[in-house]
Amino acid sequence: MNNKINFVDICCGLNWGDEAKGKIISQLAKSGNYDFVCRWAGGSNAGHTVYINGNKYKTHLIPCGIFYNVPSIIGPDCVINIDSFKKELEYLKDSGFNIDLIKISPKAHVVTDKHIKKDIDCYKSLGSTSNGIAPCYRDKYARIGTQVKDIEWFKHYLWDEKLYGNILCEGAQGFWLDINYGNYPYVTSSTTAPYGACSLGFPPQLIRNIYGASKIYDTRVGLDPIFPENLLQNKDLLSIIQEGNEFGTTTGRMRKVNWLNLDKLIQSINITGTTNIIISKVDVLEIVNIYKIIYNNEVISFNSIEEMKSHINNILELYCPYIKKILYSNNVEVVENL
Ligand code: IMP
Ligand code: MG
Repeated sequence: MNNKINFVDICCGLNWGDEAKGKIISQLAKSGNYDFVCRWAGGSNAGHTVYINGNKYKTHLIPCGIFYNVPSIIGPDCVINIDSFKKELEYLKDSGFNIDLIKISPKAHVVTDKHIKKDIDCYKSLGSTSNGIAPCYRDKYARIGTQVKDIEWFKHYLWDEKLYGNILCEGAQGFWLDINYGNYPYVTSSTTAPYGACSLGFPPQLIRNIYGASKIYDTRVGLDPIFPENLLQNKDLLSIIQEGNEFGTTTGRMRKVNWLNLDKLIQSINITGTTNIIISKVDVLEIVNIYKIIYNNEVISFNSIEEMKSHINNILELYCPYIKKILYSNNVEVVENL
């Protein structure tokens, strides 16, 4: 073991979360190519669904490295509630995974019961997940928060803050929920774009691949004027909710659905620096058999999935200079040719 980092790969969401990042990160972690899998921001507001050998697992805070025996780090810009962390530990332990591989930055902030209560009282109307996220970050930035290193219980899980070898960073939520880039105040309280991953403590020039996760249609859970309520009256979009099972992993809420907004996707690809884009849930559109995107603020229809894909590819190749690979996926467990 030495203390040199070879490279950093990052997986981030390009939409509003729920873009199948869990599937991508899990597959990358499975390759055996990484020494660490690290989560850089957020808390139990996230929900990753991962299928391993046909079994379905759900995690909220603990990185997917745990499923493949890779040390899994919860970074300094994450927020963590002891009770929900304990629950997740037990769930993973009972499922047969080695929870000793989980380490938490001593600098991560602690979500208290007070934060959760405040979240329910003040932010639920904004559609928050009620996990105490905004009040915890508020205390962090007011410099009155409690860090993990100050709580005795966390002692066993403290990370020595060292990284080496090959690093995989696991994004939570999506680009348009980022505190700086999203539709403020309809955002989360942390950095969801790859620039946030540098808070883990690696030099930015070591970033190699950025895997951007998107779905072939847009979804949004929680309040956002960009996704008006009347979308729920569109029967084509409703059929996507049903076929795509668009209900939140963390809150069980129904997600609002709209056609893939390519104008927004181009922006999120270019600002995140996505090199490899993975567009999931293609099969859902095929079942519904309606092929539409929003481009230049207009809805465009296609006759087939092939026609739609080739249109998307042409536009991305034209306007996204950092993209090296465009992949489509219709499988919950694997992305082919990742
Ligand atoms: P908070 O992060 O709980 O404060 O919620 C802020 C906004 O981000 C709400 O609209 C949530 O629905 C949304 N949000 C937070 N985490 C996720 C996620 O993992 N997936 C999708 N939406 C999320
Ligand atoms: Mg999710």
